[in-house]
Amino acid sequence: MRQQDAIIIFGTAAVVVAAALAHVLWPSLMMHNRPSRQWRPSTPLELKGRKLYMANGCVYCHSQYIRPQDWGIGAERIAKQGDYYRQVPQLLGTERTGPDLSQEGGEHTNDWHLAHFIDPRFTRPRSLMPRFAYEGNANVRALIYYVQGLGEKNADVRVAVQNRFRREAIAAFRKGPDANINWLHSRVPPVWRAMPTQSAVTNASVKRGEKVYQDYCIGCHGPVGDGNGPAAKYLIPRPVNFTILKRHLIDRKYIGGILYYQIMNGVTGSSMPYHKKDLESAKIWDVGNFIEYSFINHTDDKYISVGMPASFEGKYAWPVTRRPVPVRNQGPPVSSR
Ligand code: HEC
Ligand code: HEC
Repeated sequence: MRQQDAIIIFGTAAVVVAAALAHVLWPSLMMHNRPSRQWRPSTPLELKGRKLYMANGCVYCHSQYIRPQDWGIGAERIAKQGDYYRQVPQLLGTERTGPDLSQEGGEHTNDWHLAHFIDPRFTRPRSLMPRFAYEGNANVRALIYYVQGLGEKNADVRVAVQNRFRREAIAAFRKGPDANINWLHSRVPPVWRAMPTQSAVTNASVKRGEKVYQDYCIGCHGPVGDGNGPAAKYLIPRPVNFTILKRHLIDRKYIGGILYYQIMNGVTGSSMPYHKKDLESAKIWDVGNFIEYSFINHTDDKYISVGMPASFEGKYAWPVTRRPVPVRNQGPPVSSR
């Protein structure tokens, strides 16, 4: 054997051993069989839902783990080994065609999930997730309980918060549409209630808002804003009928701040989702402007705070109510106070 051959053979062996240590031995030493603080045993209904999750191939589109490099997707918590205690097989998933579900429990109410499983387009008009109505009521129920348990003890806390507000929301809903709106508005902080829209009600803004409405809201609030979208019959409380909001204008003037706050945060305890992770600020103002202009038949435009050039169109550049005029004066510059 020449010296060169010996170097190649021992060199190769050293690389293989080092790789095995790093990829097999080291991870196996790090492995333990202890539950994490989040872990709790699954209920029989959750286990039934888990089987359906496997049978329906949910794992091909959804992951159930968050790595440190995943914070960017708005993750709640980094997954820990002990989260998967006693889970055979673990449903980590490799594709994120849909969102990660490791902390799904309590993100939405049960009625949101019901409508979503019947047809995902009802609650997310642009979704490509398949319908699961064919599974029938009992199985859809098991799937709902399974996803509401994802995140285990952390999920239980979120579900408890949803349920607490849910009782209030349903009680308010049963008192009739106007009493319900009063209750909804009482939950909005005063500073938002007293705020008109901060983005000019222009043709462009209303058009952009219409697109947002079609992509996110139409399945629940309906094409004419009366709360009768195809999801509505699965939901309690039912989606708000925007046309009656005219009776609830603050001081008979404006409502933009209320719309913004509700769209941003959703209504905990009801199926109304929060949109702060999906829609940037400009789109929330736009969809609010669209709702006001098209369904409430009103505009806050006159009350936009002076000195806040909140929209790139300029405050009064293209108001929908008037003919387009060129921008001359954007108002006094914002002082640095
Ligand atoms: C073809 C890919 C695909 C399959 C299969 C699939 N989903 Fe989805 N899922 C998505 C996409 C995309 C979304 C995001 C849009 C939406 O909400 O519908 C989503 C959203 C969800 C959400 C809502 C997450 C949130 O909080 O916004 C849940 C819960 C969910 N899926 C559960 C399931 C379950 C349970 C199954 C199996 C019964 C399943 N999915 C099968 C693609 C898929
Ligand atoms: C899954 C169904 C659903 C979707 C999707 C949905 N909403 Fe809602 N929304 C509701 C329900 C239900 C309520 C009423 C909650 C209650 O009465 O407790 C509501 C309430 C509201 C309110 C509160 C009205 C007020 O006067 O306080 C606003 C504003 C609103 N939705 C706007 C939107 C917008 C804009 C979108 C889309 C970006 C949207 N919603 C998407 C179901 C939905």
